[in-house]
Amino acid sequence: MAKLTWIGHSAFMLEGKNRILFDPFISGNPVAKIKASEVKTDMICVSHGHGDHVGDCVDIAKRNKAPVASIFELASRFDSSGAKVEQMNIGGSVRILDTDITMVNALHSSDVFEGETMQTGGSPAGFVVDSGVTVYHAGDTGYFGDMKWIGEFYRPKVAMLPIGDRFTMGIREAAYAASVIQPEVVIPMHYSTFPAIEQNPELFEEQVRKAGSGKIRVKIMKVGETIDI
Ligand code: NI
Ligand code: MN
Repeated sequence: MAKLTWIGHSAFMLEGKNRILFDPFISGNPVAKIKASEVKTDMICVSHGHGDHVGDCVDIAKRNKAPVASIFELASRFDSSGAKVEQMNIGGSVRILDTDITMVNALHSSDVFEGETMQTGGSPAGFVVDSGVTVYHAGDTGYFGDMKWIGEFYRPKVAMLPIGDRFTMGIREAAYAASVIQPEVVIPMHYSTFPAIEQNPELFEEQVRKAGSGKIRVKIMKVGETIDI
């Protein structure tokens, strides 16, 4: 058993054997209901270098003395900001405390402007995290064929998939992705934070049903809600 809380956008807190914070975009997140300074965590997973995913990562990492798991290039930047890091790359796993973190592919971009200069964020990534329950956080991504492999090989019980469209999969693609990954529960994320990614998650639920994935439960979380998984 574990608990999962949606902080908003792609930010989640997973409380299993340890506390794992994903993509902690909290300050400046128009939907988040908590303050970054309140967050307590044992580790942080950051999927890629965009501001709506890195968010308050360095501050939270330093205050909690929590390592940040992210791809080599991005981790090196967090490291130079004084955060403790676990450098990783696609396909690799690390164990932090009692939690196994595997970095998987994502189809997106990860470079960011800092002032006038473009900084590399390495490749974008997703995470499969086992902290008692196995969870797949897809990060920002388009659909890619290896989602089938991620589903078959890691057998995540819960998948968090972006449905916001424009920058990531939209509802059609995410519903197809769910049918391919076959988690027990799929949770939509990365939507309705900003007008550009406004979506009705109930349409996602309908599409997952239509994709013939009757066994998959769609859980539409409310921001701030905690569920047992
Ligand atoms: Ni992004
Ligand atoms: Mn994003």
